[in-house]
Amino acid sequence: NSPLRLAADKAGFLLGTAVEDDLVGRDTQYEEVVGREYNIVTTENAFKFRWTEPEKGKFSFKRAEKVVSLAEKNGQKVRGHTLIWHLSLPSWLSEGNFTKEEISSIFNDHIDNVVGGFKGRIYAWDVVNEVVDDDGKLRNSIWRKNLGDEYIARAFERARAADPDAKLFLNENSIETWNDKAKATYDLIKSLKAKGVPIDGIGFQTHVDKSFESKVSEFKEVMQRFASLGLEINITEMDVDVGDNPKEADFLTQARIYSKVLDSCLSINTCKALVVWGANDKNSWLRDDSGRKAYPLLLNDDYNPKPAYNDIIRRLQK
Ligand code: G3I
Repeated sequence: NSPLRLAADKAGFLLGTAVEDDLVGRDTQYEEVVGREYNIVTTENAFKFRWTEPEKGKFSFKRAEKVVSLAEKNGQKVRGHTLIWHLSLPSWLSEGNFTKEEISSIFNDHIDNVVGGFKGRIYAWDVVNEVVDDDGKLRNSIWRKNLGDEYIARAFERARAADPDAKLFLNENSIETWNDKAKATYDLIKSLKAKGVPIDGIGFQTHVDKSFESKVSEFKEVMQRFASLGLEINITEMDVDVGDNPKEADFLTQARIYSKVLDSCLSINTCKALVVWGANDKNSWLRDDSGRKAYPLLLNDDYNPKPAYNDIIRRLQK
């Protein structure tokens, strides 16, 4: 294993990456890097609705199985991303005409089959993803329209029933500062917990850019507030966008952001994992989004360490 994984293992901390199932079994260098640098992996796409239930009632686990079995071979934990989201839905669902009752059984069957299909093999599920809008209201997704607000509670209850050992997370973006969305998410989880809904953790996606350095201390306070609800904290999709033509100074800023965020997480005893959204810059989603260049992760295009890689090791060894 690499210095990064050795430092994470020694610190008893989960330091991971998103894994693109398309590359598993196709790119041996990618697979080797994923296995030696990280001790937890998140399925970047393989557990999304369109891939696990490509046809109504027909489940396909081959893409997810590739990632999960690779992780098991490498002694890594797995974050399953994500059961219920408003995006990456198969067209039979997003373009279909279903009654509320039909959507209800589609919802139940999906969670039961996907979570049940990997029972005992998943460290944490992102049970629901991006359910709060930026204005703090619940997103009016197909799920909320058909099942009402209680779809969120139901998702957690069904996931718990299907795999009592998996930690169940609500995963969200843009709540790394105490904004309307963060406050609404806090209130939502507080009310779910008060009703006894089995929610174990909150995932902060942490897709940030260079400007975030001045916001890290606020992020720490936000994490502490959510931790006080009795939640495990996971930083679930971190990347630090430094633009498409970064200089050395930008990579040093990036390194400070990663290590300050890690420092904040390590100061909170229920913050257990930091996952970056890609094994190296070449495989960042920020590149395939519009064909632009991006350099947001810990390893460069040739899988060599960037300043952030070494700063994270130094912080883990403190
Ligand atoms: O794998 C298929 C390939 O078989 C097919 O030939 C090709 C053309 O249709 O599509 C490929 O799937 C693409 C997939 O990425 C794998 O590359 C999908 O079209 C594309 O939509 C998908 O984009 C993903 C995006 O979520 C939407 O699901 C990105 O990789 C992924 O990084 C991004 O991740 C999201 C998180 O799930 C939630 N938080 C935000 C984050 C960034 O958007």
